[in-house]
Amino acid sequence: MALRRLFTATVYRNCQIRPGYWRADLDLDSSGCEAFSEVQPGQFAELRVSDISLPPAQEVPANLRDLAQRNIILRRPFSFCDVHAGPKGIRIGVLYCVLGPATVRMMSLARGDQVSLIGPLGKGYTVSPEKKYALLLAGGMGAPPLMHLGEYIRARYPEVTPIAFLGARSLEHLPYDVHIDNEKGAYAAEYDRIGVESHIATDDGSIGFRGFVTQCVEQWLKEQAIQPEEAGLYSCGPEVMLAATVALADKYGIACQVSMERMMACGIGLCQSCVVATKGKGETGPYKLCCMDGPVFDGKDVVFE
Ligand SMILES: Cc1cc2nc3c(=O)[nH]c(=O)nc-3n(C[C@H](O)[C@H](O)[C@H](O)COP(=O)(O)OP(=O)(O)OC[C@H]3O[C@@H](n4cnc5c(N)ncnc54)[C@H](O)[C@@H]3O)c2cc1C
Ligand code: FES
Repeated sequence: MALRRLFTATVYRNCQIRPGYWRADLDLDSSGCEAFSEVQPGQFAELRVSDISLPPAQEVPANLRDLAQRNIILRRPFSFCDVHAGPKGIRIGVLYCVLGPATVRMMSLARGDQVSLIGPLGKGYTVSPEKKYALLLAGGMGAPPLMHLGEYIRARYPEVTPIAFLGARSLEHLPYDVHIDNEKGAYAAEYDRIGVESHIATDDGSIGFRGFVTQCVEQWLKEQAIQPEEAGLYSCGPEVMLAATVALADKYGIACQVSMERMMACGIGLCQSCVVATKGKGETGPYKLCCMDGPVFDGKDVVFE
């Protein structure tokens, strides 16, 4: 397990990838290599954003102008969409959705700026090398850790084929560069680049499969006549979608891991703000900490709200 540490990262790049969605690439020096060399997809970092200045008013989305003025006391958790060796250490990709005071400030990060982060934190996904298929189910901003997982599997588990199923309410809520191809149908360019097949589902049918991403996976499972022991489900997204993923996994007898999201005040097990109810008993009772015991849990252990 990678050791968590406090780092000062240097911004290499920060750019908008789609309206409302940004990507920041952060460089860590050689000490980051040690801490992040064994990072698991699904782990995360706590970023300090309180000292980042607000972007010019005209660049702040109109619906967030009041909210953006709020003071930020707590660090914010972000997972990684990729982690690569950089020229001087390690480079971490953070894909973020602008929805409140912290993420508005992050829009103003520029090359050379410094950001304090603590990481890597929590427990990520465990890949089952004996499964032929790793089915990655992302709902909305569940995208980043699964992008990392797809690339991680491609690099370390050549015998496992990752296939991504990417869902959102509609096209504008998909944090990807989406393309349509006669043969492949709708797919995400980001996944194409890392050699991972992707399928798109939107609730309103504005692109790709019309319906929930879990329905899209179910159709695929039926078409491919997959045996339960051949596949593992890895999921991240809104809780209602995670609950539907676990129900699907249960129906087909497929192993399933889910990444839970909670408000996290500390990220290191001190504040107890991030509890997840589980079916376990044990010493800690049924409640687990999302930041320490998760955010990735075995789907069958979680009690959904
Ligand atoms: C383990 C983990 C990994 C994450 N990875 C990413 C990532 O890769 N990219 C990304 O864009 N976001 C990610 N998030 C969510 C991210 O932390 C929040 O979007 C961010 O803190 C918002 O800060 P803000 O000040 O801009 O908005 P806030 O004002 O804090 O929040 C805006 C709105 O979002 C809701 N919200 C904020 N944080 C959470 C949360 N943790 N759970 C549920 N609702 C929340 C608030 O209730 C509010 O309605 C992750 C969260 C966790 C717990
Ligand atoms: S965020 Fe503080 S205990 Fe989990």
